[in-house]
Amino acid sequence: MKVIALDGPSASGKSSTARAVAQALGWSHLDSGSLYRGLTLVALEIASARRVAAGSVGAREIVDAVEGRGLQLHSDGVTFLVYLDGLPKDDAIRTAEVTAHVSAVSAMPEVRMWVDQRMREMVHGGLAVVIDGRDIGSVVFPEAPLKVFLTATAAARASRRLSQRGEEIDPAALRRESGTLAERDRKDSSRPVAPLVQPPDALLLDSTTLSFDQQVDRIVGWAKERGLA
Ligand code: CDP
Repeated sequence: MKVIALDGPSASGKSSTARAVAQALGWSHLDSGSLYRGLTLVALEIASARRVAAGSVGAREIVDAVEGRGLQLHSDGVTFLVYLDGLPKDDAIRTAEVTAHVSAVSAMPEVRMWVDQRMREMVHGGLAVVIDGRDIGSVVFPEAPLKVFLTATAAARASRRLSQRGEEIDPAALRRESGTLAERDRKDSSRPVAPLVQPPDALLLDSTTLSFDQQVDRIVGWAKERGLA
């Protein structure tokens, strides 16, 4: 099985790192969070069409709607991107509204089963892939030959997320963003199903003081040591 599991808290740089590692190895990259975001977008659209609160849409309904609309993943050459109704949804799944609701949707066991099944089909079909998420090494692919837990201090993660969005990095904005990230991490870590945890056999990579290239090189080096490249 050619899977590198890259788990960690919000805004630890998992997706960009996973993509660069995949590129260096000639593998594909799958951001499991983008699938949860796709399901969350569909849940919000159902809620808005019915004028009800997002929390009142059940897991079965979300999964049925997603199947009906044919949620698909298309590769841009490295990364798989989420498509709904045949259209790319990469921007729509990253709005503040989706981000605010994604932890609640991804805490539903039936939603997780659907997402896990998609990922397992791809890997068992022979795809060599770097997958980033929260539970890839702990639950989805416990047998992955390389597991990395990527983290950074809350301040570093908040500052990266602000610059990613092109926002000013002042103390008030940093405090606000750290608070939002901490709240999502708390929800992701405390849910009963597949919580965010560092698997005991994962290699810890604290990227607070590493440059992007250094952290990518570190993981590519580990992959080589394990005979994956
Ligand atoms: O980009 P960021 O790290 O902030 O989040 P993401 O990777 O896009 O994931 C969005 C949300 O999806 C997370 O906050 C989790 O609630 C959920 N998620 C999950 O439960 N399990 C995964 N394997 C990946 C994401």
